[in-house]
Amino acid sequence: MNANTARERIHQLTVELNDHNHKYYVLNSPSISDYEFDQLLKELESLEKQFPEFADSNSPTRRVGGDITDKFEKVKHRHPMLSLSNTYSRDEIREWEERVHKGLGNTQDLFAQQEVEYVMELKYDGLAISLTYENGKLVRGVTRGDGETGEDITPNIRTIRTVPLALRGNHPGEFEIRGEVFMPKKEFERLNRERLEQGEEPYANPRNTAAGTLKQQDSAEVAKRKLDCFLYSVFADDLPYDNHFDALIHAAEWGFKAPSHRDNYINKANGIDGIMAFIEYWDHHRHDLPFEIDGIVIKVNSFSQQQELGLTAKSPRWAIAYKFKAETVSTLLKKITYQVGRTGAITPVANLEPVHLAGTTVKRASLHNADQIAKLDIREGDMVFVEKGGEIIPKVVGVDTSKRPAHSSHHQYISRCPECGSELIRNEGEAQHYCPNESGCPPQIKGKMEHFISRKAMNIEGMGTETIAGLFDKGLLRNVADIYDLKAEQLTGLEFTVTDEFGENPRKRSMQEKSVTNLLAGVEASKNVPFERVLFALGIRFVGETVAKKLARHFVTIDRIKEASVEQLLQADEIGDKIAASIRAWFSDPQNLEILDRLKMAGLQFESTVVESAKASDKLNGKTFVVSGVFASFSRDGIKESIEANGGKVSGSISKKTDFVVAGDKMGPEKRKKAEDLGIPVISESDYIQMISE
Ligand code: IVH
Repeated sequence: MNANTARERIHQLTVELNDHNHKYYVLNSPSISDYEFDQLLKELESLEKQFPEFADSNSPTRRVGGDITDKFEKVKHRHPMLSLSNTYSRDEIREWEERVHKGLGNTQDLFAQQEVEYVMELKYDGLAISLTYENGKLVRGVTRGDGETGEDITPNIRTIRTVPLALRGNHPGEFEIRGEVFMPKKEFERLNRERLEQGEEPYANPRNTAAGTLKQQDSAEVAKRKLDCFLYSVFADDLPYDNHFDALIHAAEWGFKAPSHRDNYINKANGIDGIMAFIEYWDHHRHDLPFEIDGIVIKVNSFSQQQELGLTAKSPRWAIAYKFKAETVSTLLKKITYQVGRTGAITPVANLEPVHLAGTTVKRASLHNADQIAKLDIREGDMVFVEKGGEIIPKVVGVDTSKRPAHSSHHQYISRCPECGSELIRNEGEAQHYCPNESGCPPQIKGKMEHFISRKAMNIEGMGTETIAGLFDKGLLRNVADIYDLKAEQLTGLEFTVTDEFGENPRKRSMQEKSVTNLLAGVEASKNVPFERVLFALGIRFVGETVAKKLARHFVTIDRIKEASVEQLLQADEIGDKIAASIRAWFSDPQNLEILDRLKMAGLQFESTVVESAKASDKLNGKTFVVSGVFASFSRDGIKESIEANGGKVSGSISKKTDFVVAGDKMGPEKRKKAEDLGIPVISESDYIQMISE
């Protein structure tokens, strides 16, 4: 294909794909199949690769992410991003409405009255963002930050399908639009299911998860989590509308996901009755929404009236938020049971007479710890108040003592582990009881294995929480070293029963040939995982990802860590008394040493390539490097340190002076293109290691 035809085809595909995205995500009415969509997308991807000079930064292929930033640039907002004054009281909404009239000079004299129209919207529970469009193209997406200055997270924003990259219709030349990014309930549940399967702790609520996701530096990771966005205000110098409602509704014509009037996500009223009706409606129906809201926002519709009312120091006088109270119900506490967590922590659980709360049926609630039970004097047989706040797990917040049965007695907290019978311990200053039997208590053993196989540790694909539980029950897995002894003939056709986290809802599972092959391939691949992650995978208390990295860099081999005294351990970066003691304790346990030997025999990496290669030399003298992407054997800073330690220079951006670009995984396509344009060699991580080890 020649360049001209390619450019035309790229343009045509871009328009077509943007249109399909809009139909699918914003209008909810796709006109082609997913398969057809993928074919078009693949065609565009391949053309952009062949002709990078025509690839646009707003191309629909960017929806899948790929750009990685070191840090986000700070951006000052053109207009500060204010907050809203809010209230839980309907009376205060009435008072606000009266203040609006006063502020507009409406007196008792009926003839002098200005009519006021209000717009009611949902208060989406997510994060505020500001999007800037120039000539119909998204140019910037910025977080709220402190209201004055936010962070530029454009590559992450591009992955949100409901944010249009290129606008349609008759939009202003340059404008800013603000809205709320959130994680839909379904996506949140999917993500948590996936995390549980990988042995990771589930996230607490969609809001925090959306916040964490937006701050990720790898936009490809952001793209995997299907965030969504609703818009709630438009700023432009030449807006052809004189009121908020029209501006929002017309923004939908430009391709934005504006709240729908039909679903009553947005409505208008002429006075307090209409406002109250909207509040009342959503107080009852909010749990049916596919996303979370924490209230209702009421705004004066007319822009000129908004201006007349003006602002207080922090928030506009023309808007207010009515917040919903956390819902509370009362139900019977039938029994208190105990769960043993992966770390041995004991959580008391209230088993309740099932009750409807905030859109779901609640059968259990957390009782947190022994102190909480004592403080509220919670007893079996009590009628208790259960609440669901922002968190997904409901909690018992009080007891209706007026309904307490006559002969009830204080609850006796357990002193032995319900899983293995060991005597529980409680460290001074800690609220939780622990089962100390780390290597013999089933949930703890399984927990260790779940941690070991998790993504940031050994990343064993094809193995999850259920497989571990099943193989543990069958006696095939007793510790992490057993993973490397698994054989296809033991696994194929193996049947086991899996249950939920409460040991309920049993289901049968059997291992098919394909999943056995996958699992064993995952086990094999894990033998190449670098030392620092192996060290993290061992699950030594207080040795998290960062500490493992520091240890690997300082000591280079596992044997040196094993032999290090507390004093020697303390010499490593960021290692304090608590960590050093925990490491010593781990290496003094003969069971751990046996596991370690078996893992060595299996061929895992117990030596750091990072530090070896970071040894000082002058091999790179006079050479300037740019690094981009994620590396297997180095952290971002690690590879830079290594370049400098070997006499090279590191620069942040590619220019004619660059000698080499070291490309990690997921290097941004823009950087690659620039390097290619300037004829600068792009080398891989292993090329680099080769270069300094020659
Ligand atoms: S209007 C001047 N409308 O609530 C106020 N905000 O405390 C501009 N929010 O930071 C905000 N839904 O993140 C507005 N329909 C809605 C909203 C909304 C959620 C958030 C927003 C803002 C916070 C205000």
